[in-house]
Amino acid sequence: MNFEFTEDQLAIRDAAKDFAENEIAPSAVARDIKAEFPEEIVKKMGELGFMGMMVSPDWGGAGMDTVCYVLAMEEISKVDAAVGVIMSVNNSLVCYGIEKWGTDEQKEKYLRPLASGQKLGAFCLSEPEAGSDATNQKTIAEKDGDFYILNGMKNWITNGVKADYYLVQAMTDKAKGYKGVTTFIVEGTSEGFERGLKEDKLGIRSSDTCSIGFNNCRVPKENVLGEVGLGFKIAMETLNGGRIGIAAQALGIASASFEAAVKYSKERKAFDEPICNLQAIQFKLADMAVNVETARLLCLQAALKKDNHGKFAREAAQAKLYASRVAVQNALEAIQVHGGYGYVREYLVERYLRDAKITEIYEGTSEIQKIVIAREVLR
Ligand code: CAA
Repeated sequence: MNFEFTEDQLAIRDAAKDFAENEIAPSAVARDIKAEFPEEIVKKMGELGFMGMMVSPDWGGAGMDTVCYVLAMEEISKVDAAVGVIMSVNNSLVCYGIEKWGTDEQKEKYLRPLASGQKLGAFCLSEPEAGSDATNQKTIAEKDGDFYILNGMKNWITNGVKADYYLVQAMTDKAKGYKGVTTFIVEGTSEGFERGLKEDKLGIRSSDTCSIGFNNCRVPKENVLGEVGLGFKIAMETLNGGRIGIAAQALGIASASFEAAVKYSKERKAFDEPICNLQAIQFKLADMAVNVETARLLCLQAALKKDNHGKFAREAAQAKLYASRVAVQNALEAIQVHGGYGYVREYLVERYLRDAKITEIYEGTSEIQKIVIAREVLR
């Protein structure tokens, strides 16, 4: 087993770190307060290859492996987890699906601009009554000549306000249950496509989230992804990869919290010495360090499994379950180390906690990850 990164992987990590510190960090606090989407940043990330990292260069992507993706996600989310999720959804939930199941025509028309960052993607699975219970899809798609007519409502759609193209799961045959779900590529300019209001969120505020309504929305039949009835499988397999992205996002938050706590504990004095000399603080720093290292190993294990073996649902769920848990723990401990200063906006750690919480919820709650893991354990 080799714990060394390749030169390419290190170069990507350094490039992501540079970009995050120089281009993302300066506006992160203001964008969080104003809940402002990082339009220019996302555009530049596209130009640098961060929006289609694992897509083949044949389709405008950067052609990198999942390890590179994890390293870049960690660095970017360390500085701004809101930018991390925008990147994660476009890479893992949208580009991946179109590259794996799309026709050459779909790849030319949709994947190429998504992978190069000229267009932004979103993934529509959740509904008002289908969150964890994702098989309970109510959005329907009825065939009408060369079109499908979509009706229904999707919830909590990351990139929902700004995206150009949406992967939408809808029921084409209700009698077949989840085997009657089909995935469609839907353009945001389609007739009957309605964006809801942007949600006012606790964290990752600079990413946008909204509901999407389909009101007799006409989608050409050539926009079926994969085949009719394959939609639930596509969604589940896509989410396996998405969970690696969110795990790496959570790792970034855990790591940022840890580094902030170390730095502050060396600067802040109490009882005539820096608080890092106190065992009460040292124990916290030690636990936080182990949290970060363990989460990183689980993320990299999942990434390697995806790159080398194809089946990685359990490893992805383990990485997400653990990394999201320690993101919350480390953010809480970072606040505790900062004392009162950790509770106000002057320091960044209060944002880390607000941003961390969602990683235990989206792309499958922690409880869903346990179901996925337990099923694999018992298989
Ligand atoms: N990988 C591959 N296939 C999977 C899978 C996985 N992780 N989980 C389930 N499946 C397959 C099953 O094998 C089964 O297919 P077959 O019959 O062909 O074997 C099919 O899916 C149905 O599964 P179950 O019979 O097990 O159905 P269930 O209802 O008991 O459980 C579930 C399904 C695992 C709970 C699933 O509904 C689930 O993962 N729910 C969570 C959904 C989720 O993660 N939502 C996130 C929304 S997207 C989001 O957050 C995006 C964003 O914008 C950030």
